[in-house]
Amino acid sequence: MAQSAASTGQRISLHGNWSSRLAFVLAVTGSAVGLGNIWKFPYVAGQNGGGAFVLIYLGCVVLIGLPIMMAEILLGRRGRRNPVETMRILGDEEAGQPSWAVVGLSGVIAGFIILSFYSTIAGWTMAYTIKAASGSFVGQDAASLGAQFGAFIADPFAVGFWHTLFMAITVVLVSLGVEEGIERAVRFMVPALVILLLILLAYAVSTGAFAAGVEFLFKPDFSKITGTAVLAALGQAFFTLSIGMGAVMAYGAYLPQDASITTTSFAVAGADTSIAILSGLVIFPIVFANGLDPAEGPGLIFQTLPLAFGQMPAGSFFGVLFFVCLGFAALTSAISLMEPAVAWVVESFGLSRQSAAARVGLIIWALGFLTVLSFSHLAEFKFGRGTFFDNLDFLSVNIMLPLGGLLLTVFAGWVMCQNSSADELDPGVGPVYRLWRLLARFVAPVAVLLVLLNAFGLFD
Ligand code: PHE
Repeated sequence: MAQSAASTGQRISLHGNWSSRLAFVLAVTGSAVGLGNIWKFPYVAGQNGGGAFVLIYLGCVVLIGLPIMMAEILLGRRGRRNPVETMRILGDEEAGQPSWAVVGLSGVIAGFIILSFYSTIAGWTMAYTIKAASGSFVGQDAASLGAQFGAFIADPFAVGFWHTLFMAITVVLVSLGVEEGIERAVRFMVPALVILLLILLAYAVSTGAFAAGVEFLFKPDFSKITGTAVLAALGQAFFTLSIGMGAVMAYGAYLPQDASITTTSFAVAGADTSIAILSGLVIFPIVFANGLDPAEGPGLIFQTLPLAFGQMPAGSFFGVLFFVCLGFAALTSAISLMEPAVAWVVESFGLSRQSAAARVGLIIWALGFLTVLSFSHLAEFKFGRGTFFDNLDFLSVNIMLPLGGLLLTVFAGWVMCQNSSADELDPGVGPVYRLWRLLARFVAPVAVLLVLLNAFGLFD
């Protein structure tokens, strides 16, 4: 990391800077592309009736997600500290209100919750790499693969083992620093993932149910849309773009002053959304060709993809490659989920990066067992939205991320003075800046607020 490439006459990051603009783009892409695109998008779209949900999700990405992503990066680069400290400094500087630090802190907490279940699912991915390698999918039908998956998640020792391994790897990589590992992983992982999805797409076309899959994904049926479904679409947009909790803000803190925030945000959002859609185009034809239920839930890709790998030529080989790539994609996202907390602990409590990562990792690891057990011993223990996993997921993704994003965009659009935000985004105050400001001040905050209020029945 180039310590010298710091900002000109402004604050400089305490953790160094990205070596280049490309390094930053790769890191944010690594954060955005992950289980959210391949695991979560298809199953949430399936649970919420398909087409209409997808349309609302796309609208949320463009009108809410993009401006908030830009806001987060600009705040990060302006503050050049961890999200908690950045919000404290900027709140103080712009409005004499250091209490904006609370928004950063809630992001740190959201990161803890999300990573606790994220790691469990990433563990499933690692276990499925081994299953693919050992030929467990060959010649199996939907029923037997469903049974195989059911038996696997019901075993807390196996799932707990993989969760532990995934968290351990994440802690080691976070300990190594902001750039090490991420850049190299993303450079070949994202293209490889896209190629593998395209190979799977060829299989999906051959199932004979491709048209049914496309129709499900793109033909909107608005009778399926409830307030909760719209909230789920909004939450998915935040989750998949890694926004609302400070992950991209933390990365923005290491961004050289001359890199364009707008270009980066558009490139990342475009790539991220395309990968999610591609994943949907693979999953749903397999669902319909095999009489599976699109609303199956979190196990959806673990029951559909093995069918494809079990039937296509060289399936075991592609299966291993796919789950390895997905594991890497999850890892680069997990690193960014931990980064705000670790940077905060390092900067505020003076711990070394290693011991900060170890402590943060330990808490998240322990919390993760609520999700591990949500699919086995605690599967019948339901309250609120369902199991512990359902509640942690709902609280962090559908509530904390949108609320965090709302506050961040209100801060960047209303509290921060125009000179400061224009300085970071578009110093000449051109049309891009004006459009951003319109979206960040009015469209995004109002839309998030309406969706939240609506989901909680305030308009009934
Ligand atoms: N965007 C990541 C994914 O799609 C998850 C994530 C959410 C990462 C929030 C960081 C912050 O898998």
